Amino acid sequence: IAGAVRPRETPWWRGERARLLALAAPDAPRYVYHLDTVRARARALAAIAPVDRRFYAIKANSHPAILRTLVEEGFGLECVSLAELHRVFETVEGLQAGQVLFTPSFAPRAEYEAALALGVTVTLDNVEALQRWPEVFRGRALWLRVDLGRGEGHHEKVRTGGLASKFGLPVSRIEEFLAAARTLEVTITGLHAHLGSGVETAQHWRSVCDELGGIAERIGSVETIDIGGGLPIPYQEDDEPFDLDAWSAGLAEVKAAYPAYRLAIEPGRYLVAEAGVLLMTATQVVEKGGIRRVGADAGMNALMRPALYEAYHGIHNLSRLEESADTPFDVVGPICESGDVFGKQRRLPGATAEGDVLLVADAGAYGFVMANRYNLRALPHEQVLA
Ligand code: LLP
Repeated sequence: IAGAVRPRETPWWRGERARLLALAAPDAPRYVYHLDTVRARARALAAIAPVDRRFYAIKANSHPAILRTLVEEGFGLECVSLAELHRVFETVEGLQAGQVLFTPSFAPRAEYEAALALGVTVTLDNVEALQRWPEVFRGRALWLRVDLGRGEGHHEKVRTGGLASKFGLPVSRIEEFLAAARTLEVTITGLHAHLGSGVETAQHWRSVCDELGGIAERIGSVETIDIGGGLPIPYQEDDEPFDLDAWSAGLAEVKAAYPAYRLAIEPGRYLVAEAGVLLMTATQVVEKGGIRRVGADAGMNALMRPALYEAYHGIHNLSRLEESADTPFDVVGPICESGDVFGKQRRLPGATAEGDVLLVADAGAYGFVMANRYNLRALPHEQVLA
């Protein structure tokens, strides 16, 4: 990326070390969320995004306090399962159906029926659903998710476009979809695309908006264009923060070309990733074949991202923050899989030892929500730092 590397702002957890150390407990890995950081990201986005509607993709982190905070900040909520729909209505008092999107993938018929009964905005992404369940959709106003023919994002597993991907109606089948919709008196009021997660190029959303705008002109009944989520955060220490100004300027330009439509976004990661840390306790330090490893009481069961995507998360020894982090360690979990590694050759204080509290940074998005009980390990706790 061209330009000078801007330093990252000091992460919130450095100022909360004492409170975090008091929260950590042996054998009880714990996610801690900082609501002020969630608010700060929400406000930064609200201040600059040239959009009419902002939805939070709750799959990134569905903790009740985070949902309430983001609704207070003016976000609607995007859900992908009936359980997520139930979560948002149970959690957020006074939430209106008009503030909620339902964008499932290969959901069973019963979930569409339940979502329509709740009155939320339902998005379809294939013709077959209309053909198989005409009585479910007859006479409805629906949104349509299209596949713009390519995927984007930080890893192959999070790219959600192109013919090989399961998401979205190919643009070549739009006429067929519209014909099926017409016979059922279904109106397409929204057009949606989400090409992937952790997209680094700020101009990506501009072209998505442009392409959807062109398709909306052909359809005629579209009111809202939803260009998805996918905004990245800087996971590596020397990553630049996402260029919100460039993102916004590009978007504003194309939006002006399509003044008839309301523009919507649905970020997840950007709002919550930096607000969360995973606290875990060192179990053993072992040297083998010249590699020093520190084990933690949480592994890929608690945070899957490194094992699944080789994702980078900063790792710090919270008990020894003032000591110099000069000794390379592999940081591993307790799970019986060789992929259970949080990071290789990470610099930690040489005295790192059993009982130290290790902090995994930027774990607020796709952390707890993807945790599981493999090896019958307990799920991590979750806690808010208000
Ligand atoms: N909208 C739709 C339709 C989505 O599928 C997603 C994410 C989002 C919005 C929000 O994307 P975000 O702004 O968070 O990038 N587990 C992976 C990420 C999977 C994202 C799935 N869909 C990870 O940990 O990187």
